[in-house]
Amino acid sequence: MIASSYRRLATIAFIATMCGACDSLPGRPTTADLPLRPSAITDFSQLYSENCAGCHGADGRFGAAIALNNPTYLVIADDASMRAVVANGVRGTAMPPFALSAGGSLTDKQIGILIDGMRKKWAGVANLAEGAPSYASKEAGNPNRGASIYAANCQSCHGTDGKGGTAGGSILDAYYLSLVSDQYLRTITIVGRTDLHHPDWKQYPSGKPLKSDQVSDVVAWLVSKRPPVPASINAIAVAIFAIPILGYVLSPARRFTWLDWISLGNLTDYPENQTRLSEYVNPYRKPWDGETARIPCWVRRMSGDSFQVFAINCTHLGCPVRWFAESELFMCPCHGGAFYADGRHASGPPPRPLYQYQHKVEGGQLWVRAGELPTLGQPEV
Ligand code: HEC
Ligand code: HEC
Ligand code: FES
Repeated sequence: MIASSYRRLATIAFIATMCGACDSLPGRPTTADLPLRPSAITDFSQLYSENCAGCHGADGRFGAAIALNNPTYLVIADDASMRAVVANGVRGTAMPPFALSAGGSLTDKQIGILIDGMRKKWAGVANLAEGAPSYASKEAGNPNRGASIYAANCQSCHGTDGKGGTAGGSILDAYYLSLVSDQYLRTITIVGRTDLHHPDWKQYPSGKPLKSDQVSDVVAWLVSKRPPVPASINAIAVAIFAIPILGYVLSPARRFTWLDWISLGNLTDYPENQTRLSEYVNPYRKPWDGETARIPCWVRRMSGDSFQVFAINCTHLGCPVRWFAESELFMCPCHGGAFYADGRHASGPPPRPLYQYQHKVEGGQLWVRAGELPTLGQPEV
């Protein structure tokens, strides 16, 4: 009796030890080995190198655009100005918008981590920028006065006529001026390009530190050299595109009738704990839409009336995703994007979860609100 309960105890202890050991066998992946969702990345270096280094340089220098490791820059630009640029980009320039709300791929928190990280990593001494002109221009610049400021402070390196000089390229080049904003010209004039030995506001050849209004003047002069043609072409192009878009946006039909509740069939078509392909016919089709008016979607029934309905298109570039019941993943054939059963991003390039349709259960049927497809700007129609 005693012997047998000893044996039983010993067996239980043995199994327990083995199970403990299994969990730590070498090679077995742990949760820490799972790839992070892009929105879960909180490491400054990773965020910076994946999103910013391409244009602003590794370590914040020697990139095509301003060196972000410039300590003077980090003093004069406040968080709000930096956040505005990073979140919304700068229209007409190569600086893209990064906020999710603007079609980018970073959360507000991640943008905060980038700004804090740049400050922590690259800030210089506290009074470095004492007496520096303000980041934002407070006064309208005068291009005539700007011309003489350019001659005294910039011309020796940048040349007189758009050809550039011995020490610097041309900043009067039409293409260059068309591709940068007024603020950027001001920022560079004040903080310089430390990585390329560009003087800052107190190091110019005239020997006198530039004041805020003088920076505004020289920027106004540079801006006066910006060719007007591309801008007017832009205006025409904008008008050509804007008119139909305005018509669309203002059309009362848009908000009230372009969406409808459409039946996806009986609840009994969808077994619990399963994900099934379904399809509906877009009510707002034109005769020439043909087959494309039949729109597939994935229906996941968790239990009872609890459903999720996913758009079939990958949130990366729109390829149709397929459900693999064995691995419980949606996979995208195009670039290897993968999503969990509940639509969350699992791996690969897609920047966000699968789009979901609004849905309801009524009269023994499952209904989705559809007609207009969800987009980045409006993920839940
Ligand atoms: C495709 C190139 C590109 C990428 C990628 C890029 N930038 Fe920029 N960035 C630019 C350009 C070009 C400008 C100048 C825009 C202008 O003319 O105002 C700029 C401007 C800025 C400015 C404002 C400078 C000023 O005048 O105050 C900040 C801040 C900035 N970028 C931060 C970032 C951060 C942070 C990232 C990564 C999340 C990033 N950028 C990614 C090209 C890029
Ligand atoms: C000592 C030489 C020197 C002086 C003086 C100088 N620059 Fe520059 N500047 C450079 C160099 C070098 C670059 C780097 C790119 C290149 O080679 O053109 C540059 C680049 C620039 C850029 C482009 C930066 C970018 O990232 O897009 C601007 C704008 C600029 N300078 C403005 C000015 C203004 C305005 C003045 C006068 C107030 C001035 N510079 C005076 C040497 C100089
Ligand atoms: S379209 Fe799906 S991963 Fe690129």
